Amino acid sequence: MASHSAHAGVGIDWDARYVAGDTPWDKGAAHPALLARLKKLPIAGRVLVPGCGVGHDVRAIAAGGAAFVLGLDVAPSALNLARSYPKAGNECYQEGDFLTGNAVQPSSFDVLFEHTCLCAIPPERRADYVRAAAAALHDGGFLLAVFFTNPENPNPHSPPFRCDLAEMGLLFSDDFEIVKSSAAVPTYSEREGRETLCLLRKKTRPAMPLR
Ligand SMILES: C[S@@+](CC[C@H](N)C(=O)[O-])C[C@H]1O[C@@H](n2cnc3c(N)ncnc32)[C@H](O)[C@@H]1O
Repeated sequence: MASHSAHAGVGIDWDARYVAGDTPWDKGAAHPALLARLKKLPIAGRVLVPGCGVGHDVRAIAAGGAAFVLGLDVAPSALNLARSYPKAGNECYQEGDFLTGNAVQPSSFDVLFEHTCLCAIPPERRADYVRAAAAALHDGGFLLAVFFTNPENPNPHSPPFRCDLAEMGLLFSDDFEIVKSSAAVPTYSEREGRETLCLLRKKTRPAMPLR
């Protein structure tokens, strides 16, 4: 029998959290800063949402007219819930571990949208997250992120893990350039001052010279 650890992410049984309904991060709607941005500027093209949970952000981006939106998550129970919502556009969901770097076709996305996924990943696996994000995007593709920075970090041994912005700048700097970074507004009252809205762009690699 498959154990829960098969869809546990990294040492955390995310599926069990969804089964138990213990999902305080789920606000029942897409992030307000994403909704505000979509109102001004819809996200076009092929979009990947890693750690999509029950897919509120996926559906908001799909409803905004993106060509295709894929919600990826390790927790099958979250995805079952996601699939129970009416279709909003051209979205679908896939079970998979984003950190492996091969859950999706390489270079097949124009945009990656992130919301409380990086902070769910143990700091020692963050480099894998960056590698997987860079692998999923084509050169010049965008990573739009609502990073939960969680500066107080009451429990450093369990998520949400603190994400120090200076460290994160370094972490992403090999593969991405930061286009814009500001406080994520609007947001929920308990997250004020604890989130950053970042737009990063995957660097274009020069072609390898022929020998
Ligand atoms: C804090 S929740 C956020 C869910 C959703 N983004 C939201 O804001 O409602 C983190 C999500 O990341 C998923 N997750 C954790 N590790 C993952 C991994 N390695 N690959 C894909 N999803 C992962 C969990 O199952 C969970 O749904």
